[in-house]
Amino acid sequence: MAKKDQLIVGVDIGSHAVKICQLQKIGGDYKLLAIGSANLPPGAVEDGVLQEPDEVGKAISGLLKNLKIKNSRIGISISGYSVIVKKISLDKMEESALDEYIKSEAEQYIPFDINDVYLDYQQLKSKSAADDRVEIMLVAAKKEVVDDYINMLSELKLNTVLVDVDGFALENIWETVSGAKENVALIDIGASKMNINIISEGVSVLARDIVVGSEQLTEQIALELEIDYSDAEKIKLGAEEKNKDIDGVIKIFNQTCTQWVLEIKKAIDLYMANNPDKPLKSLVLSGGGSKVNGLSDYIKNETGLNVYSFNPFEKMTYDKNKFDPAYISLIGPEMAIAAGLAIRQSSI
Ligand SMILES: Nc1ncnc2c1ncn2[C@@H]1O[C@H](COP(=O)(O)OP(=O)(O)OP(=O)(O)O)[C@@H](O)[C@H]1O
Ligand SMILES: [Mg+2]
Repeated sequence: MAKKDQLIVGVDIGSHAVKICQLQKIGGDYKLLAIGSANLPPGAVEDGVLQEPDEVGKAISGLLKNLKIKNSRIGISISGYSVIVKKISLDKMEESALDEYIKSEAEQYIPFDINDVYLDYQQLKSKSAADDRVEIMLVAAKKEVVDDYINMLSELKLNTVLVDVDGFALENIWETVSGAKENVALIDIGASKMNINIISEGVSVLARDIVVGSEQLTEQIALELEIDYSDAEKIKLGAEEKNKDIDGVIKIFNQTCTQWVLEIKKAIDLYMANNPDKPLKSLVLSGGGSKVNGLSDYIKNETGLNVYSFNPFEKMTYDKNKFDPAYISLIGPEMAIAAGLAIRQSSI
């Protein structure tokens, strides 16, 4: 059995909430050890940038304390304009030559000054590449933005041993727990962004971040009903008793979800146009915003795909006295990225 502290603690810092997940690897399976989330004040994280480190630090340390997590090696992920992911195709070369080449030539592929970014890359095992070519996934993240997170965490005596990208973490957990070889569209709808990632033959072939999310619903409900943000959030989540302008709220849901689905369809159509011989089978939803009532059926009708809500813990073991299975499946979708970080082994 793997030792408890071999896996890192996954910390997904979203614009609405911090989500933390700790798993244990037992053979080829995972056991859920700890899970939780804490809301952040509006504006604490914006466009993937840490704006209020003290507030976010407070939320993280409080959550770790509640969850009784002692392991201080953690993994985070970033998203937004400060991270660029680009697929490039190069002539096949020796590993050392490839390393040299990418370091010296990366600038032409990314819109930032090379001195301002952390650079990483991975060779893809794409079947479509010709024999003499290799496909490389290049990742460049603004040092400034990454360092802000690392510094905030080191103030809390936490050691950041992994900085991943939201979309990769999601892809990893999906592939790990589903073992699926089928072609899928992974769609994460958060508070302020939607991430679309189409996985075909085990490789991400289309990935994009779109600036729409569940916060849009809250803002519009607040405007329409002339109420404050926190009351609008309650109405959105159905926690508030029936309000007088139910029709107005329904209209907002319909308009916003129509816009989300149009974006999803655009990406799927583009994929299908380029890959007519590799049809998509399913669409997998994650993120808190994907939990809008009826959204899943609506997407199913519009795309003709099987649509399901992603619960990464469905097949994992956990202490049923500690976690209620109904609660786990309820929070599963928004915990997916944190879970994708928590399956990673610490290399430091
Ligand atoms: N049932 C629901 N219907 C609609 N929205 C919901 C529901 N449950 C949660 N949400 C919304 O989901 C959002 C939180 O989801 P999540 O934790 O995935 O976002 P985030 O990761 O903080 O944001 P982002 O990834 O965009 O930075 C909030 O806006 C919340 O109101
Ligand atoms: Mg998120």
